Amino acid sequence: MILLTAEALTMRFGGLVAVNDFNLHIEKGEIVGLIGPNGAGKTTVFNMIAGYYTPSEGVIRFRDSVISGLKANRITKAGIARTFQNIRLFSELSVIENVMIGYHCRIRSSFFGATLRLPLYRREEKMMVDGAMKLLREVGLEEVARERSTSLPYGKQRRLELARALATGPQLLLLDEPAAGMNPNETQELLELILRLRTDYDLTVLLIEHDMKFVMEICERIKVLDYGTTIAEGTPHEIQNNPRVIEAYLGEVQRA
Ligand SMILES: Nc1ncnc2c1ncn2[C@@H]1O[C@H](COP(=O)(O)OP(=O)(O)O)[C@@H](O)[C@H]1O
Ligand SMILES: [Mg+2]
Repeated sequence: MILLTAEALTMRFGGLVAVNDFNLHIEKGEIVGLIGPNGAGKTTVFNMIAGYYTPSEGVIRFRDSVISGLKANRITKAGIARTFQNIRLFSELSVIENVMIGYHCRIRSSFFGATLRLPLYRREEKMMVDGAMKLLREVGLEEVARERSTSLPYGKQRRLELARALATGPQLLLLDEPAAGMNPNETQELLELILRLRTDYDLTVLLIEHDMKFVMEICERIKVLDYGTTIAEGTPHEIQNNPRVIEAYLGEVQRA
């Protein structure tokens, strides 16, 4: 079953074409990689899928509904969650409260219900606390649940973002450079975590990552962007041996 389709997506910022004629199909349960040099347009693709940007052209479908043009909160409710390249946590809040934020899109209580602590809200609050704690256990953060989120080391903050994304109850998870800043051990643990979460939560994953070892190990299929254009797609093996991909990455070394 095809979960997500992007057809002929183009995103322009003024005169800059950040993403040009981008096409993608993701089958339910797949782990797909989106790679390419810095500035290639990868995060812009995520921003279009997640409803942060409305594509200049093209259509995005999720489970047979057109979602392009919907606001981000509607897309979250529809079942797409994301993490950010630059971690975005609520620094004033504790670890568990950051995960509970993810649940808010799923509860029925109104703001007044919450303020007045009506019975429905109290039931839902318990559901949120229990659910958030379970997710923190999943990602190995239960012991720091009451700490301030920004007091955590970098690798743990990334796992916290993952827990918060899961709290929204997604079917499709978009991970923007989940291994960035992690050491090889943390990266390997993350890889195992993502594989386990995919099974336990019946997830489909689209991820952006620069760590090639990680990408090649975890992805079943990879798409390569360069200057907004798709230059290759295929299995990890095909991508690793593709001359255009090698050239794009060599180009990056020369540009740097
Ligand atoms: N909101 C924006 N306004 C203007 N330009 C943007 C915006 N977002 C991204 N861009 C530009 O689009 C291009 C692709 O950026 P991005 O998608 O972040 O690349 P990547 O994630 O592959 O590194 C870059 O040239 C970037 O400067
Ligand atoms: Mg990016």
